[in-house]
Amino acid sequence: MADQAFVTLATNDNYARGAMVLGKSLRNHNTSKKLVVLIGPQVSDPCQCVLKRIYDEVRVVDVLDSGDAAHLAMMKRPDLGVTFTKLHCWTLTHYSKCVFMDADTLVLSNIDELFDREELSAAPDPGWPDCFNSGVFVYRPSIETYGKLLEFCTEHGSFDGGDQGVLNGYFSDWATADIAKHLPFIYNLSSIAIYTYLPAFKQFGGNAKVVHFLGKTKPWSYTFDPKAKKISGSEQDVSSNPTYLLEWWMLYSSSVVPMLHEQYGDQTFHSGCVEFLCSEMMTIEIEQSESTLSLPHSLPQPSSQERKQKWEQGQADYMGMDSFDNIKRKLDTFLK
Ligand SMILES: *[C@@H]1O[C@H](CO)[C@@H](O)[C@H](O)[C@H]1NC(C)=O
Ligand SMILES: *[C@@H]1O[C@H](CO)[C@@H](O)[C@H](O)[C@H]1NC(C)=O
Repeated sequence: MADQAFVTLATNDNYARGAMVLGKSLRNHNTSKKLVVLIGPQVSDPCQCVLKRIYDEVRVVDVLDSGDAAHLAMMKRPDLGVTFTKLHCWTLTHYSKCVFMDADTLVLSNIDELFDREELSAAPDPGWPDCFNSGVFVYRPSIETYGKLLEFCTEHGSFDGGDQGVLNGYFSDWATADIAKHLPFIYNLSSIAIYTYLPAFKQFGGNAKVVHFLGKTKPWSYTFDPKAKKISGSEQDVSSNPTYLLEWWMLYSSSVVPMLHEQYGDQTFHSGCVEFLCSEMMTIEIEQSESTLSLPHSLPQPSSQERKQKWEQGQADYMGMDSFDNIKRKLDTFLK
């Protein structure tokens, strides 16, 4: 239907690559809905061009540049930059209903039936099932709701520092009000869920419809050898969910990388696939050794400035200790 859309968000070129794969996976499963991607101003021109070939609508959202309430909210809460950009999805009022999906999700079958659900439908968060995971949710675009969300954000902030905290705060009756708004396990899959709930996965995994790569290491942080069909990177992460990672990389290397090559032309870029230029491989090696350094336990906790920077770059650490501590603190205040 023309007035319904899947919506995603890419704040930088890495998340843009995720959005390309997500868009492709929705198309490959013959969705009848429109595809919309919101992008931050940092997304490069070649990536924007590729997104335009996959998505019906590519909308640049520059909260800092907008003259509206979002700009004012941003002045008060600069730490919530990425969140404000995501909330922008409520302004897409030329659609009557939308399904938002994070750019680190991958669709494994047609999920158009999600549009039968009402605002706000989402799957429980694997870390705390009384909160929903804001990686996939059904909503109704509305300027009124958008305004209220911005107001909520500025007044209450976010208990996890990101959009999941804001949305759970605003739609706070989700856990108890209407069970129809709880999406079943098949929309709720994540590499972490699979790891933690292996028995459940063995029972329901065959029907998986969406994978959400929740971990610290996103699919695009690995390297891939398309000939050998081999993924390399942090071993623990690779082995926790090899099938879905491979699925992501097969789709990315077969249908996204060729488009990127066309757009970049002679300019070098880092596809993450090892078959390309030597200079690219050297850069990947450097990137890999950096990512090894940032593994948990090997580094002191990042300063709040660093964390803030990460949020702003779209590298929200939802599963990190700060998010859990904040959720716990919030729950403690409820219980008091
Ligand atoms: C999508 O549609 C095409 C053309 O109608 C069909 O060949 C293909 O099998 C469909 N794909 C899926 C996953 O249903
Ligand atoms: C969603 O996943 C979590 C953990 O993986 C599980 O505990 C929960 O029961 C699932 N939710 C539903 C509605 O199946």
